Amino acid sequence: MAAVRRKVMEVLEGSTVSPPPIWLMRQAGRYLPEYRRTRAAAGSFLDLCYSPDLATEVTLQPIRRYAFDAAILFSDILVIPDGLKRNVHFVEGSGPRMDPIDEDAIMALAPEGVLGHLAPVMQAVRQIRAELPAETTLLGFCGAPWTVATYMIAGHGTPDQAPARLFGYRHPKAFAHLLAVLADLSADYLVAQIDAGADAVQIFDSWAGVLGEAEFEAYAVAPVARIIRSVKARRPQAKVIAFAKGAGLQLATYRQKTGADMIGLDWSVPLSFAKDLQKDGPVQGNLDPMRVVSGGKALDEGIDAILEALGQGPLVFNLGHGITPAADPDHVTQLVDRVRGMHR
Ligand code: CP3
Repeated sequence: MAAVRRKVMEVLEGSTVSPPPIWLMRQAGRYLPEYRRTRAAAGSFLDLCYSPDLATEVTLQPIRRYAFDAAILFSDILVIPDGLKRNVHFVEGSGPRMDPIDEDAIMALAPEGVLGHLAPVMQAVRQIRAELPAETTLLGFCGAPWTVATYMIAGHGTPDQAPARLFGYRHPKAFAHLLAVLADLSADYLVAQIDAGADAVQIFDSWAGVLGEAEFEAYAVAPVARIIRSVKARRPQAKVIAFAKGAGLQLATYRQKTGADMIGLDWSVPLSFAKDLQKDGPVQGNLDPMRVVSGGKALDEGIDAILEALGQGPLVFNLGHGITPAADPDHVTQLVDRVRGMHR
């Protein structure tokens, strides 16, 4: 078989690809009418995640429409607490819910059966790889231990992760145990995704931005470094993207301290700073998702600024966080065409 060029993989290896490859966080989702149809037919959100056929279908939907350079496995970071029997469910319109965990329940966590519970996810990865165009990179993912822990402790999403921050100060030993359990389980899960056919994996630390300096080291850097070390010890060729949203100046050392091959940048990262970060290796990002909702000139200008600042180095074009349900699918066409140089 002729070697295929997977552009996102080339960037992950440090090459500059021009125009840059593109995919969007949350590219399979409610802004797409075909997603909403599949989602309605699936029943619950977790039923969708655990049905290999339906998860494959929704993963491929944005690829068919936009020919993105990467597909991301359709699943959720909260399948890990679900596998840990935390009674995870998704309440229409108000996000995820689960039983809030306490010290005793943390010490009693039993990670042994979790990978078996997640077997349908690995089946989806195999099916997606078999159906994807050869040139499309397939990304697996997991949540970073800190971000997953914020949901497990509060039992739901919170604006500032106050319950988990407080828990960390009050119960440092139990909290460290929780992060360690999540890190080791996540590493096993990422290895299983890679073995099933994922080309690379992304670790989502969506709530890294609320942490003080010492907590960022202990909760965001150390567990992600532990995951990456473990994955690379077992799969030396594996490539890892780490996205620590809101990490700001902490990003200066985040790549080196975690061992990530590429770092994801949110839209608050100044492009001048992003350019410095790119001197150490590939970066991914960082368009404000609201520019996609807006469309028009705001969308074009945001894209051009990123390409101007980062287009001469290793870049994977992406948003600075997930695309939102209010985004117009035609604006995504505008975005993809402009990044690919069709209307510049
Ligand atoms: O990127 C993709 O297209 C792949 C699929 C994906 C989903 N969630 C599907 C999803 C990925 C990579 C995630 C990651 C995820 N999940 C994160 C990290 C990234 C981020 O956006 O910060 C987090 C924090 C979660 C937890 C989560 N899942 C929340 C807070 C919610 C509810 C909020 C919302 O947008 O409704 C979910 C549900 C969820 N996960 C949906 C999708 C498409 C929407 C639910 C639905 O379709 O009913």
